[in-house]
Amino acid sequence: MKTFLNAKDLGDLRQALAEAMEIKNDRYKYQSLGKNKTLLMIFFNNSLRTRLSTQKAAINLGMNVIVLDVNAGAWKLETERGVIMDGDKSEHLLEAIPVMASYCDVIGVRSFAGLTDRDYDYAETVFNQFVKYSGKPVFAMETATVHPLQAFADLITIEEHKEVKRPKVVLTWAPHPKSLPQAVPNSFAEWMNAADVDFVITHPEGYELDPAFVGDACVEYDQKKAFEGADFIYAKNWSCPGVTNPASYGQILSKDMSWTVDAEHMSWTRNAQFMHCLPVRRGMIVTDDVIESPRSLVIPEAANREISATVVLKRILESL
Ligand code: CP
Repeated sequence: MKTFLNAKDLGDLRQALAEAMEIKNDRYKYQSLGKNKTLLMIFFNNSLRTRLSTQKAAINLGMNVIVLDVNAGAWKLETERGVIMDGDKSEHLLEAIPVMASYCDVIGVRSFAGLTDRDYDYAETVFNQFVKYSGKPVFAMETATVHPLQAFADLITIEEHKEVKRPKVVLTWAPHPKSLPQAVPNSFAEWMNAADVDFVITHPEGYELDPAFVGDACVEYDQKKAFEGADFIYAKNWSCPGVTNPASYGQILSKDMSWTVDAEHMSWTRNAQFMHCLPVRRGMIVTDDVIESPRSLVIPEAANREISATVVLKRILESL
C-alpha cells in the first residue's frame, strides 16, 4: 500500500478487520517488519491521539520514528505554488518535502482544511504534494477532507461492541463554538457505507456532507427520528461543507443546543452505545452523564487508534 487516504486503500475491509484482531491479540507479532525503517510524522496541526497512537504503532512494528511539528521549531512553510515569498514563510513545501523524504521510508501527514477555499481543500492539495514530491509511501493522519485512521478505529470498535449482527449506526451533528473541518464525518460516512451496518446521518439543514462521502446513507433531518432504534450514536460537529451553498463553506450555520447528545436523546435509541473521536467539548457535543456512562465507548475507541495505525503501517511496510 503506497498511500492511505480512503477505505478502498485497505481492500477487503473484513480482511483488514481480521488483521486488526490478530494485532490486538499480539501487537508485537510483526516487530521485525520495521527494522531499520524510519517513519516521519509531520504535523501542521495539533494532536494527542494521532501523535501517540501512530508512534506506538510504529514501535510495535520495530520502526524508528521522527516527529516534526511544522509550526513549532521548523521554518514556516509555504504550501502554495506561484507565490512571492516576501512574508513570514521561509521555506517552500516543494523543497521541504524531498528533503524530509530523504530521511525516512514512510511519511504520515496531518494537515487540516483551511476552510476558506473548498476546491483547494477538497483537492487534497497538501497531501497530494507529499505523494507527488516525496517518492515515499504517504498516509493520512487527518487531512483536509478525511481521517481514515480514525474511521478504521471506529469500525474496529463497532465490530467489537456490536450486540446485533447488523447494527443501526447514526452519525449526528452536534454544536461547537468553533468552525471545524468535515474530515471525521466524511471518513466515518465513507467507512460505514463500506461496512455491514444500517447507516443514518442526521444534521440541521445546510450541513449536507459531500455526496462522495454520503453515498447510499439515509439522511434524516429530524434527529429524534434518526435516533430511534439506533445501536450506536456517533456524535461530531462539522462546519458547513458548502454542498448546497458553496459561499457558506467552512461557516458555522447553527449552534442549536437541542442537538447536544444528552440522556433524553439516548433514551430515543435502542440502548445505544455512544461514540466520539475526541477531543470533545462536554456540554456542547455531549453531556457529562452520557460520555461517562457505561455505554460510552470513547476510551476503547481511542485505544483502537493504535490498532488501526499498526495495520496500516504493516500494510505499507509489506509493500516497501
Ligand atoms: N481523534 C483524533 O484524531 O485525536 P487527535 O486530534 O488528538 O489526534
